[in-house]
Amino acid sequence: MKVGIIMGGVSSEREVSLATGKEMMAHLDRTKYEAVPIEIRYKQDLLAQAQGIDLALLALHGSFGEDGTIQGTLETMGIPYTGCSLLSSALCMDKDVSKKLLRCEGLRTPDWVLLRRLDDIRSPQVAALGYPLVVKPNAGGSSIGVTLVRDEPSLRQAAETAFSYGEEVLVEAYIDGEEITCGMLNGELLPILSIKPSAEFFDYTSKYEPGQSDERVAAFEPELEQRIRDAAVKSFRAMKCSVYARVDMMLKDGIPYILEVNTLPGMTRTSLLPQSALAAGISFAKLLDAIIEGSLA
Ligand code: DAL
Ligand code: MG
Repeated sequence: MKVGIIMGGVSSEREVSLATGKEMMAHLDRTKYEAVPIEIRYKQDLLAQAQGIDLALLALHGSFGEDGTIQGTLETMGIPYTGCSLLSSALCMDKDVSKKLLRCEGLRTPDWVLLRRLDDIRSPQVAALGYPLVVKPNAGGSSIGVTLVRDEPSLRQAAETAFSYGEEVLVEAYIDGEEITCGMLNGELLPILSIKPSAEFFDYTSKYEPGQSDERVAAFEPELEQRIRDAAVKSFRAMKCSVYARVDMMLKDGIPYILEVNTLPGMTRTSLLPQSALAAGISFAKLLDAIIEGSLA
């Protein structure tokens, strides 16, 4: 089977995607699959390069990759692809829409306000959130353009930064708790990881510089563990995910607050999903196998 590993792309997470693609190239089982690296440099690039592959193994992150557009293109081309559907990808990429859906399902997510223009920072809804706040592009990833804002004078600059990555910005109440993440693979929950970044939040450097974050399998008392697991499974279902995804949460006073669901979670050397799989005895190569098999089922 000819597997095209689609990487790069045009989003702010291009470098992360290239790192994911590199790991996938290194670990894909060559006794089973022929690996074809496909680097996307501009939007139309996929159309010619994907001809002749039997499956697209998606190593893309962010817009035009994780947001349903590539999924739709591949569906039009009749090429199967790994991971979540077009709809689920589009829903999860939009943090505002995701949070509305999660709330509809009774899940907890930090309070938020969507900004459509910079002056919206002066709205009473934003003031009602209090401080600290997290300001982020509504459709970004890898904490690019994200700022933890501790007081009002810093808000405008943070919003300007986030607006430089997209047309909508999310202002979210900061939950001062423990960051945890739950990977899902073919209907099974992988071990929950707890994340302790050296920075004040899990920013780009903490995510991708080796040694900048302490990530380990979390130990909870059984009742809390079950509550977290239930929240992760419910989020995965609410967002119509399939095959695999990673649910990021903040845990405070025993309550898991869902931050987001990632439909194409990072698979770089420092990324969380491969670590979590490994803790369950699933090597990177076996994880790719499971993703491919789940996607073709
Ligand atoms: N957006 C990055 C790749 C992640 O969620 O892992
Ligand atoms: Mg993300």
